[in-house]
Amino acid sequence: MNKNSPDQQTNLDAEKQLAAAAVLDWVRAGMTVGLGTGSTAAHFITQLGERVRNGLQIQATATSKASEDLARRVGIPLLEPRRGLRFDLTVDGADELDPSLRLIKGGGGALLREKVLATASDYLLIIADSSKAVAQLGRFPLPLEVVPFALPWVLDAVDALGGAPVVRVGQTAGTLAHSDQGNLLVDCHFKQLADPEGLAQQLQTIPGVVEHGLFLGLARAAVVATGGQVLVHRAGAAPTAASLFSALP
Ligand code: 5RP
Repeated sequence: MNKNSPDQQTNLDAEKQLAAAAVLDWVRAGMTVGLGTGSTAAHFITQLGERVRNGLQIQATATSKASEDLARRVGIPLLEPRRGLRFDLTVDGADELDPSLRLIKGGGGALLREKVLATASDYLLIIADSSKAVAQLGRFPLPLEVVPFALPWVLDAVDALGGAPVVRVGQTAGTLAHSDQGNLLVDCHFKQLADPEGLAQQLQTIPGVVEHGLFLGLARAAVVATGGQVLVHRAGAAPTAASLFSALP
């Protein structure tokens, strides 16, 4: 899904690293933190690990096995899911975000756990490079997590909605990609999402769709790096320089 040149990729990775660094001060001692998935979230986890090794006391839960492994390697204490567990702050990446902070997520296949933690969080903070901020959602294919048995009927239903579904392939030739839960991933090519809320409602009524990658009304802020500049986006407000918002309100 990545169509950037190697040079663009390097620039975007520098932006991801910068966005991650810009939100480190949002994490305060004693917090329970949700850890996102993907390359931007990985920068955040790595940098947060350094703070933990330097004495910052936090506990965290990760949104994927990959992020959990990384968190463990960098020394972040991990909490298992349990009843009543809530997160002060979850920091995650996104595939697209619009001016209302509606998101497409799941490019890394972790949309289900990401939505679980986002929903169990008091504050979902998105970190992103400049390619992720869009005027309208939909250029990035919308991921679905699908129970394998239900796949043919889910593909029919998504086709009927105009979503041109494609089952995601695995990294080894001839295999399909699976989520951490062992489900399949389907990428829907709607191209432009004129009504994300309406589409979300339609997708969640399809039997066998475990979760979709539309995150609506969940993100409270997004920190987006563009070149060397970092801006904080909040729904319906003009973006503000990151230095003015170094902590949660
Ligand atoms: C994983 C996600 C990621 O947050 C999203 O794909 C962005 O990834 P990256 O930070 O690598 O660009 O939703 O399921």
